Amino acid sequence: MKAFNIALVPGDGTGPEVLKEGIKVLEALAPRYGIKFNFESFDFGGERYKRTGETLPDSAIDELGKFDSIFLGAIGHPDVKPGVLELGILLKLRFALDQYINLRPVKLYPNVDTPLKDKKPQDIDFVVIRENTGGIYTGMGGASMVGTQQEIATQLMVYSRPVVERCIRYAYDYTRKRNRKNTLTLVHKCNVLTHTGDLWVRTHKEVGDTDYPEIKQDYNHVDACTMWMVKSPEFYDVIVTENLFGDIITDLGAMIQGGMGIAAGGNVNPDGVSMFEPIGGSAPKYTGQNVINPLAAICAGGMMLDVLGESDAAAAVDNAVHQALASGKIKSMSAGRMGMGTTEVGDFVASLLA
Ligand code: IPM
Ligand code: MN
Repeated sequence: MKAFNIALVPGDGTGPEVLKEGIKVLEALAPRYGIKFNFESFDFGGERYKRTGETLPDSAIDELGKFDSIFLGAIGHPDVKPGVLELGILLKLRFALDQYINLRPVKLYPNVDTPLKDKKPQDIDFVVIRENTGGIYTGMGGASMVGTQQEIATQLMVYSRPVVERCIRYAYDYTRKRNRKNTLTLVHKCNVLTHTGDLWVRTHKEVGDTDYPEIKQDYNHVDACTMWMVKSPEFYDVIVTENLFGDIITDLGAMIQGGMGIAAGGNVNPDGVSMFEPIGGSAPKYTGQNVINPLAAICAGGMMLDVLGESDAAAAVDNAVHQALASGKIKSMSAGRMGMGTTEVGDFVASLLA
């Protein structure tokens, strides 16, 4: 029996509801895979911030850092100024726990509507690996003469070779392990961003040539990538990209796979504590109505199993989600239109795993 200690951060809005279904599914499969989960819940989020003025105390980072993984519902509160919780909780955790990979599968399941005409599940199945701690997100830069007509502001795209290389290596390893089209597409804008672009392009080539000769190397400018993601998504296998470009293209990815109700992500530190989340946000207006789609949270739980080394159990979650959707019983990915409630979707997927 293998035991995993999982920190739960249900967070705000519908976060707790979807997380509950993610946990339900994990609990349902655990006995079959000889796994035991010990969950401990933390109340970080908008409500706590409103009550205490605290986002994420440093002691919380030490504490969360002792778990095997973190499972997050959603962070975001309508009464809290934008940026406070994002920076104070989500980004702080990513940086403090050095979760340098943001893993975002873009996968169209059966019977899920994609806005892309004529595209089928076999056409939309790739993974975006977004660098998660560097680039413009480091917050470097500054402003001068603020509020005057001459105001100047900079926000720097900062990358070092080690930060780029560890991300590129992770992406090659991932592509090799995935073993589908064995193609790793670097996405950047090296025709304009000549300094950091060049660093990414050379690292992609050198690491690939030396250590992953069997993996095909490919490159797209980020603007062209958004075009190809819509026109020919079947072309992609694994994409690796810098932080901000990855942020942008993964929202596009979420839409072509059927929307935020089914989009899951992981903030991964391969040698440390990772954090998994449905990427849809806290959807405050649906809170407490049992209408929000929990499939993204369920898929995030599956991703967590994979990173914890439980690849069979992870594949089982993916299979169960696949089966649940193939049944045609879940009518839509949108909140309130699923044809069943949040808890019923969770029960359904769990029943396929028990
Ligand atoms: C995401 C989000 C975050 C990001 C925000 C909330 C800070 O958009 O996880 O993609 O920009 O990374
Ligand atoms: Mn984003």
